[in-house]
Amino acid sequence: MYDDITALLDSIPFPGKSESLVGSQALKELEIEDGEVTVVLNLTGVPRSARHALEDQVVELLQAHEGVKDVYVEVEVDDLPQYDAANDPGLSVHGGGAAKPAPKKALADVKHLIAVASGKGGVGKSTVAVNLALAMKARGAKVGIVDIDIYGPSVPIQLGVPGAKPGVSADQKRFTPVEAYGLKVMSIGFLVDDDTPVIWRGPIVASVVKQFLDDVDWGALDYLVIDMPPGTGDAQLTLTQSAPITGAVIVTTPSELALVDAVKGLQMFRKVDTPVIGIVENMSHYVCPECGHHSSLFNEGGTARISEKFGASVIASIPIDTEIQRGGDHGKPVTAVRPDSPQAAAFLTLADAVIEKVPFEAQEKAEKKGFLSNLFKR
Ligand SMILES: Nc1ncnc2c1ncn2[C@@H]1O[C@H](COP(=O)(O)OP(=O)(O)O)[C@@H](O)[C@H]1O
Ligand SMILES: [Mg+2]
Repeated sequence: MYDDITALLDSIPFPGKSESLVGSQALKELEIEDGEVTVVLNLTGVPRSARHALEDQVVELLQAHEGVKDVYVEVEVDDLPQYDAANDPGLSVHGGGAAKPAPKKALADVKHLIAVASGKGGVGKSTVAVNLALAMKARGAKVGIVDIDIYGPSVPIQLGVPGAKPGVSADQKRFTPVEAYGLKVMSIGFLVDDDTPVIWRGPIVASVVKQFLDDVDWGALDYLVIDMPPGTGDAQLTLTQSAPITGAVIVTTPSELALVDAVKGLQMFRKVDTPVIGIVENMSHYVCPECGHHSSLFNEGGTARISEKFGASVIASIPIDTEIQRGGDHGKPVTAVRPDSPQAAAFLTLADAVIEKVPFEAQEKAEKKGFLSNLFKR
């Protein structure tokens, strides 16, 4: 009986990893007495929602085994250092506390907030955010993008609306977003000009983010893509906690330095129980325009290594490419202006991976639990 139960537990994967509950050492204790099975699992690093789904899965599987009368699952989680938002001077948007606030009214019709984040600036986070939003739109979703990168809000430039100003709703109570290529767009760049000193930007960002999320007439959206500020410091952590984010996409380049920061990003989202949808490896390879040959640029396999270690899959590899670069710098994003190009195809692959993990159709019908645990399927 003991061996049978162990084998059953060995058939359940640890969320986000290729190993099983047994192989990953998550199984701490197994007691069987008179058909009563007690399982103690250490699920450190697994977001709460996925933990519950897993508990249910274990109970269901073991209960079906002959001779099992009752199944008790005890979950232990090692303490992670807690970020104390209440004591963060000036940046606490919702008055502190680690609990994730419920979506506000303006976001009521926004089904999913997808954060695009990177540990390091300059890795192509905005390029990925813009083209991901456009690719999800091309797949039929209603999409908005909000740029809260205080250090370099480049979404307006990338979408060809650098000088635009958001409108004001009829009741004068809300901003109406700018429209570009069929996306609803808001950017901190619409409100803060290039000359605003960076020391002002930190305090500004807390109130602006609140406005962008609460006081913008987004209307009905399937996805709102958030271009986050780079980094993994307290400001990013506060932002992550202040919005009801469905999941995060982490952008990195294969360089060793960027990867170290990507790991910090993964850890930051773990800390606040936000699922990581996947890792995007940007500027990962070069495709020869003459012969179509793919060459790795540097550090081949680096992203795969951290993906394995942290249980987040690499969901897209985007080549380094002049069309991608020019499209962004001239406000003509490749996914919108050349939708049939191989460059756009790379972003469509990314969009499909996100849509697979966070579907936009029939969301209301999907049970929340099954829905979130879907994020951890590999
Ligand atoms: N896949 C790519 N191929 C070529 N250039 C890229 C690619 N991704 C980003 N870039 C370029 O790199 C620079 C930084 O990209 P950006 O998206 O602004 O990065 P971040 O938002 O992370 O600071 C931009 O000039 C952009 O056009
Ligand atoms: Mg940027």
